[in-house]
Formats: sequence, C-alpha cells, structure tokens
Amino acid sequence: MEIAIYDIRDLPFYDGDVESEGDPAPVVALKSAIRNADSIIFATPEYNWGTSGALKNAIDWASRDRSEGSLMGKPATIIGAGGRAGTARAQMQLHETLGETGTLVMVKPGLQVQAFSPQQFDEAGNLTDEKTKELLAKHLEALVKWTIQIAHPIEFVRHSCEMDAAAVGS
Ligand SMILES: Cc1cc2nc3c(=O)[nH]c(=O)nc-3n(C[C@H](O)[C@H](O)[C@H](O)COP(=O)(O)O)c2cc1C
Repeated sequence: MEIAIYDIRDLPFYDGDVESEGDPAPVVALKSAIRNADSIIFATPEYNWGTSGALKNAIDWASRDRSEGSLMGKPATIIGAGGRAGTARAQMQLHETLGETGTLVMVKPGLQVQAFSPQQFDEAGNLTDEKTKELLAKHLEALVKWTIQIAHPIEFVRHSCEMDAAAVGS
C-alpha cells in the first residue's frame, strides 16, 4: 500500500458564504485527494476529549461533496496517539461525525497509542516501540482487507478463495 500524508494547514475555516462563491483552492485540492484515494486514515490527537478543530474543519469541508462521493461510502479507519486514553475519546467523536458523512469506518481492530510512554517515539517523532509497530502493521493489513471488501468486492472474493486454497494445500 502507498500512504500519502495530507497537509490540512492551508484550509480556511468552513464558511458557507465563502463556499457559495466557489470552493477555495485548498478545498478543491482536499476533495480531489479524497476522491482519488482508495481509503482514508484519520490520525488524530486528543484535544480536550475531542479531535482537533483543524481535522473537524477539514471533514466539514469535505462532507460538502456528497454528489461527487468523496467521504460518502469511502472506506476509512481512525487511529491516534495521545494521553493515557490513547485518543479513545477523540476517536469516538470522529466515529460519530463520520457516521453522518456516510464514511465506512473500520470498527475493529482499533489502535489507541499512549504517546507519552518514553519508549513509544524517539525525539524526532519516529515510532520506536516494537509492540506498537506490530499493532500498526496489523491495523494497516486489516484496512487493506476492509478497503478491498468494500470498494472491490470481486477482488475480495478472489483473495478469500486463494486463502482457502492455500489453507487446504491445493
Ligand atoms: C489543547 C490540548 C488539549 C489536549 N487534551 C488532551 C486530552 O483531552 N486527552 C489526551 O489524551 N491528550 C490531550 N492532549 C495531548 C495531545 O493528545 C497530545 O499533545 C498529542 O499526542 C500530540 O498531538 P499534536 O502534536 O498533534 O498536538 C491535549 C493537547 C493539547 C495541545
């Protein structure tokens, strides 16, 4: 899989008056990036028991694109690194919001990382904890399956048949 980190810092605050004049360029770019992706990974911090205002703002802009189907029906997952709850509360809030946008968020397995344990990240912000790396890899594998199942059901059936065949040694 290829993962591209999408920078949301140039997005203006959502404003219906601005939108009615036509989407600003960063919003056009955001909607197009979502449309062109097979699935989305929402990686959130936890700010005061919720997700960041910046991420919610990006979702609000992107949600105004139903006819072109950017968030609606798009396979996705939510992960996060934060305080002791590992962003569990922020993730619950995102599940609610993405329910309204019709985004097909994978429910299991979850991934909540306690960002402040000393072994988790090095000083440059690289993930260093082996156990968390393993969980992240499993999470991404599950996202691939989830995405294929939703977006390419025939490939999913083929993949399952191949696994069956391998299991019986034929
Ligand atoms: C304004 C603010 C509020 C925060 N509130 C919480 C919180 O409610 N729960 C939590 O686990 N961490 C909280 N944190 C810690 C963030 O989750 C932590 O900083 C995060 O891992 C780092 O993400 P960032 O570098 O994108 O800010 C808060 C941090 C900030 C700046």
